[in-house]
Amino acid sequence: MANDKCSPSFVIVRGFIGQQQLEAALTGMDLVIIPAGLPRKPGMTRDDLFNKNAGIVRSICEGVAKSCPNAIVNLISNPVNSTVPIAAEVFKRAGTYCPKRLLGVTTLDVARANTFVAEVLGVDPREVNVPVVGGHAGVTILPLLSQVSPPCSFTPDEISYLTNRIQNGGTEVVEAKAGAGSATLSMAFAAAKFADACLRGMRGDAGIVECSYVASEVTELPFFASKVRLGRGGAEEILPLGPLNDFERAGLEKAKKELSESIQKGVSFMNK
Ligand code: LAC
Repeated sequence: MANDKCSPSFVIVRGFIGQQQLEAALTGMDLVIIPAGLPRKPGMTRDDLFNKNAGIVRSICEGVAKSCPNAIVNLISNPVNSTVPIAAEVFKRAGTYCPKRLLGVTTLDVARANTFVAEVLGVDPREVNVPVVGGHAGVTILPLLSQVSPPCSFTPDEISYLTNRIQNGGTEVVEAKAGAGSATLSMAFAAAKFADACLRGMRGDAGIVECSYVASEVTELPFFASKVRLGRGGAEEILPLGPLNDFERAGLEKAKKELSESIQKGVSFMNK
C-alpha cells in the first residue's frame, strides 16, 4: 500500500520458538495466523495429516485462549475442514469462543479459481472473482462458476475442467513437488491477502468481503465456507450462497457429505 504507515520500517519482527515461548509470542496479539503443521506428500489427502496436525492446532489454540483470547484467528493448518472445528472446541472449553473470531483460510482456493478461470477467458486474473464455498479439500471445494464476476458463461466441458482443476489445485502442487511439500509461496500470498482483508475490516474499512470457512448457518452444517463480510469483530456477516445451478447443487450435496464427516472427526478428537 502506498501509505507511509505501511512502510517496512513500521514493521517489528520478533522470533519465538517452542512451546515455552508460545505465551510470549501470543500475548497482546490482535490477529493470529496459524499455518503450523506438516504438509502433504504425494498420494496423501489433507485428512492424512489429521493425526499430526490436530494436536498442534489444539496446543496453539490453547495458547491463544490463554494469552490473547480476543484475537482473531486465521487458521491454515490442514485439514482445515477439521482443524477449525477443533479450534472452536478448544475455545469453547476455555470459555473464550466467539464464532466471529475464528476463520479458516480458503483464499488459496479463490486465487486458484481466479487464475484458472482467467486463463480460460483470456483475461487478467486480477479482474476475475470466483466465489468458492464449502470447505478446503477435494470435493468440498465448490467453485460457483455461475456467479463469477464479471458475469460470463462456460461450456459444460469448461465447467467440468475448471471444477476439477480448482478442487485438485493443491494436489497438483503436491505432485509437482514430488515429496518436497505442498504449496508454500502461493499459500503465503493467499494468507497475506486474507490477513490484510481481516486487518482492514478490524480498522473499520467498509465492504470487505472474502470467502472463509467459518461457523455458519448457510447450510445445516455447523461450519461452511462462503462469502463473509469482515469487520471490527471478525466475520461480521455470513453472506448467503446465492442462486446455484443444477451442477452446483449436486456438487453442494457431495461437499456437505464429506464436510460433515470432517467436522465430526474434529469434534470427536476433542472429545476423546
Ligand atoms: C493447498 C494446501 C496448502 O491448498 O492446503 O495447497
